Amino acid sequence: MPGSVRRGWLGRLSRQLVRRSPFDGTIRPGRVPLLAPFSGRPALPFPHPWNYREPLRILEALFHGADAEADRGTRHTRYLDVPGFDPVLVTRDPALIRAISLATGDKPGQFDRDTMPTSGIARATGEQTLLYANGTVWRQQKQLVAPPFARSTLFNPDTFDEFEGTFRKIAADRLEAVRLRVAQAPSQALRVQLEPEIKAAMLEMLVNSFFGASVPTEELRSRDVPALDLVIDNIVKDTVMAKVGCPMHRLPGFMPGVRQARRATAAFEALVSRVIEPRSRRSGHWKQFESDASDEALRPNIRVFLAGALEATTSYASWALAHLARNPAAQERLYQEVRDVNDYTPETLKRLEYLSCVLNETLRLTPALYFHPRRASADTWVRTDEDQTLFLPAGTHVLLDVWHANRHEDFWGVAVTGLPADRFAPERWWGKGATDQGTREWTHFGFGHGPRFCPGKNLGQLETALLVGAVVKLFELRAPSPENPAKAGVSTKPSDGVLVDLRIRPG
Ligand code: HEM
Repeated sequence: MPGSVRRGWLGRLSRQLVRRSPFDGTIRPGRVPLLAPFSGRPALPFPHPWNYREPLRILEALFHGADAEADRGTRHTRYLDVPGFDPVLVTRDPALIRAISLATGDKPGQFDRDTMPTSGIARATGEQTLLYANGTVWRQQKQLVAPPFARSTLFNPDTFDEFEGTFRKIAADRLEAVRLRVAQAPSQALRVQLEPEIKAAMLEMLVNSFFGASVPTEELRSRDVPALDLVIDNIVKDTVMAKVGCPMHRLPGFMPGVRQARRATAAFEALVSRVIEPRSRRSGHWKQFESDASDEALRPNIRVFLAGALEATTSYASWALAHLARNPAAQERLYQEVRDVNDYTPETLKRLEYLSCVLNETLRLTPALYFHPRRASADTWVRTDEDQTLFLPAGTHVLLDVWHANRHEDFWGVAVTGLPADRFAPERWWGKGATDQGTREWTHFGFGHGPRFCPGKNLGQLETALLVGAVVKLFELRAPSPENPAKAGVSTKPSDGVLVDLRIRPG
């Protein structure tokens, strides 16, 4: 425990007033000024009602000017320390991201997942969920709901066959509808936004195939996808509104936006009920689910799975196709690999090495979850695997900024991987354990790291591989614009909704 760190709010305030760093150790985070007039900084370094729709710029603002620093600590780890508030630490250093992720969990002194930047999620889904809870409640939730997603369950031959077949049929039916539209177009080429198609297919795989419900495709498309979009959008809005003392449930129901939000919540609840209903018949994956928990107790996690899984898998497949549409050579190489593939068994997935490279590169350059929030539950020392140390006082909010870590030249650039960090280059992963998520030096954190690793990885990976493979096999895709900017809310997505010109491949 360093002598410079004084306990209690008074100690914190006096330290903050003399602008002494709350951190200690060999890593020396750089201080971010709250205001920096005329500096050219892209945004204020914290979310507020006018900038919250641009979270990537807020993260950029926290690193504004940092590339001029030579010291690794100051260059890649920064902090904001406003008198009267707990400090905020942001890091884009993969070694520190790894160390803090590994030190997250329910053991005394370990980091929690910080609930402050995601409080809207709790109001939309409930607090007792695997995603939101901390400590012993999180551990109980993990024991309750994680096993059905485990690799051994999902990749068990019988289970896998069942899902792979029905997932493939859903993807084929959705793509056939697109193919007919393209075939009827005057020059047999059509400009389409693929994101809505991807989202509808992902929701159908989850609702009808995975959970064994039978909601007609058209209802999922026209009612449930828009309702979920609104629920997810409101999570972000509500988190920021609550911070300024006005959560959305306190707003009067006659306001059109509030009325619309309530209608979307009601539609979402109806969908959750339709997904839980097959449990009594042990349909779909419910047959793997051994638990005495009541349907009511499972509802919050089902909300998380529906909204979270839809958001993350849509982001993942959208980015993969948006990148391929701008990289004809990568697309052609993938086509050559998948053109004769009809099914996606665990063995086939292992053989499809270039598809794995494409998927890893997608999660590296454009991760669905762009930062992982943590909170120091106690005064804590962390040590990285490169033997650097950092002391964080209890209460510190930590932003593990994987978006900027994954695209920084220092960690993924020419000197390290032979290719520029900001370029989509699947071949970067060739021969680097690409069929999994990489080695220590090649960790992209796309599914997280450590005890709070994503339990839906196998499911999401299977859905995305299958859909991306099926699209590339059927169509040649070209993006009308070479730029590929991101929009970010709960997750990141291509801001043009994956606008592409589609042409049917011959044969
Ligand atoms: C394929 C796309 C997906 C991606 C890229 C993804 C990404 C992630 C990441 C990065 C985390 C860790 C966040 C952190 O450390 O703070 C996470 C956690 C989580 N994911 Fe996923 N996910 C995906 C699909 C899914 C699916 C399909 C489900 C469920 C059906 C799911 C459910 C969860 C849950 C419940 C957690 C919280 C786990 C915990 O805190 O213990 N995810 N996901």
